[in-house]
Amino acid sequence: MTLDVPQPQIDPAHFREVLGQYPTGVVVVTANDSAGEPIGMTVGSFTAVSLNPPLVAFLPAKTSSSWRALRESGDTFCINVLAAEQEDLCRAVAMRKTDKFAGFDLRRSPAGNPVIAGAVVWIDCLTEQIHSGGDHDIVVGRVLALDHGSPDQPLLFFRGGYGSFTPLSLASGDTDLLGHLGEIDLARPHMEELANRFDTEVTAIVLVKDEMVLAASAGRTDIAVAPTRVGQRLPFMPPIGSCFAAWGDSTLRETWVGSVADVLTDEQMGVLREVPDLVRDRGYAVALGHKVGAHLELVATRINAGDPEVPTSSMKEAFFEALDGYNQLEEPDDVELRSLSAPVFDVTGQVAYMLTMWGRWERVTSDEVCVRAEALCATAAAATQAMVDG
Ligand SMILES: Cc1cc2nc3c(=O)[nH]c(=O)nc-3n(C[C@H](O)[C@H](O)[C@H](O)COP(=O)(O)O)c2cc1C
Repeated sequence: MTLDVPQPQIDPAHFREVLGQYPTGVVVVTANDSAGEPIGMTVGSFTAVSLNPPLVAFLPAKTSSSWRALRESGDTFCINVLAAEQEDLCRAVAMRKTDKFAGFDLRRSPAGNPVIAGAVVWIDCLTEQIHSGGDHDIVVGRVLALDHGSPDQPLLFFRGGYGSFTPLSLASGDTDLLGHLGEIDLARPHMEELANRFDTEVTAIVLVKDEMVLAASAGRTDIAVAPTRVGQRLPFMPPIGSCFAAWGDSTLRETWVGSVADVLTDEQMGVLREVPDLVRDRGYAVALGHKVGAHLELVATRINAGDPEVPTSSMKEAFFEALDGYNQLEEPDDVELRSLSAPVFDVTGQVAYMLTMWGRWERVTSDEVCVRAEALCATAAAATQAMVDG
């Protein structure tokens, strides 16, 4: 028995407008024509299909002359995921009928297809199936080879316009973080005063779930690895973030220590377990050594930026290397002071955020470290008071 379902009338313009609310990346499908010249088609309807076997797909209009040319060119093609800076190439390939790549650099993929210089990713495919889907075809390709190209952000297409990806900003992302921004704002004059006094940078760091987010900064230091630290995200993992563990409850302490249990020996774990009490007794956390500290920050910055050449596993390695420089029992004289951190409390007595005062390239004596630590703790106390008053 067949059910007589009425076919709804969908207005094509409305269909386009509604579906345009779904953002896509943009790829150029390339191949060679019979004369060996590069041909291509700009496509937004690209998707991964299957991992095993490795399949991808794109959906060309049946009426498209570019698709006809690709189809007639043979049974392999290459998917080029465009970078945000390649809007001009995207438009040229979509609009030109011939010589689509004039003025753009190409090289050959292993299957001999054109790979566009500057594309984020290329994927060589063998046409596996061509299904019909209304006025479009669904072309399924078996992946023959694939790799990263340029480390740039991909081009995005949304509501008829082009753009690029921005990680959730401080303003639009975490609501937990938003609450803290107002609290930190109350401390801004104190942060600036401290930064000016020691000609360095003072930052406010918030713990949001299992990440520490650098939410605000005052001043500047010559040991920074990036133009700004604001927005930097680091996992809540030793050696950093000891202030949150020191004044946190036992669960938070256990989370902090436990996050590196798989890479430390029992002896190292024993030392680490002492750190929260040590920091709490001192009233602040201290980090020494610019080389390991800068490496740790650089790895984190590159992972945050989505650099494909830096695997996330290198974060743990960088943290591990930096472990010795943090919160030593005895501070040697004449040190490379990387940072000092102290907690700021909210009206309920919980740590609201952590203030970090950064060091500078020159070495300092342990007396100078004490002067800085005292000044930082006074600033953190003033920030706590500002919250009570505010
Ligand atoms: C961002 C973007 C995404 C596109 N995505 C598709 C698509 O998924 N499928 C398709 O058939 N055409 C798509 N097009 C249109 C084709 O690139 C091309 O403009 C069209 O096929 C022109 O017709 P021709 O192939 O006959 O020259 C897209 C165009 C742009 C600019």
